[in-house]
Amino acid sequence: MPLPKWLDEPLDKIYAAFLDRPVKRLRFYVSEIESPRLPQEFDGMRVMHLSDLHAKDYGPGYRRLTSACRRHKPDIIVFTGDIFSRNESIQRIMTRVPMMRELVRLAPVYYIPGNHEGDAPEKAEILYKTLSGVGVKVLRNDHTRLTRGGEHINIYGLELPPACYRAAGGSFRDLRKLSVGELDGLLGRPESDAFNLLLAHSPIQFPQYADWGADLTMSGHVHGGIIRILGIGLLSPERRFFPKYTKGIYRRRSGRGEAVLEVSAGLGKFRINNPESVPICILRRQRK
Ligand SMILES: [Fe+2]
Repeated sequence: MPLPKWLDEPLDKIYAAFLDRPVKRLRFYVSEIESPRLPQEFDGMRVMHLSDLHAKDYGPGYRRLTSACRRHKPDIIVFTGDIFSRNESIQRIMTRVPMMRELVRLAPVYYIPGNHEGDAPEKAEILYKTLSGVGVKVLRNDHTRLTRGGEHINIYGLELPPACYRAAGGSFRDLRKLSVGELDGLLGRPESDAFNLLLAHSPIQFPQYADWGADLTMSGHVHGGIIRILGIGLLSPERRFFPKYTKGIYRRRSGRGEAVLEVSAGLGKFRINNPESVPICILRRQRK
């Protein structure tokens, strides 16, 4: 059920007023994800998932965040977009670079754009270039292969078109949905017998990601539903009540067996009863 349009502006003002509150409640959540397609060499790999930092302040150099990440010993780190908020200055946005450089020292880092990067493309381009320069692998409708002991998995990074987040005229109604064919066009056909990890900022199109061939999709965007009551997220960035995918693990059948979606509640923005979150997925090889 969409909220009335006149609420957009007051809601944005309320978010903005709380953007820079220091964080006290950062939580790490560990889940095990099994797949028969995961090669033995990758069994036990720890994928740390950061998302939706926006303008949240984690102290000088984001050290509180990076030192907490270090304690959890990631094998790889993925950042699924919205590392800044669209209205921030480029000077402020660049304060994320030392943080990302520090993360690269912990583990290989893979980055995909969110909707805020899409709304501020010039600033985002400067950031991508700088991030690539410090060793972050920026995946914009691109993929990369991770190899261990002669085996491999694939990491695909999706950059959703802006119309998937807002329709023409700024409305949240009639958002564009991608078909499997369109995902093929953006990402290519996934490798059919490999383990395919898909990074996609918005989780809304999980059924299509599963049908496309993602074994595990990692998403953010929904901020845990902003306000959480009894484990249920209340509101989506599209101003809808009770969004389907807000936080944690979701599963559905696909042509390949089971597809898993892991959604991070994110690191920033205004939130109630909804701790800033860093999920960690431990990949496990499932015996056939
Ligand atoms: Fe976000």
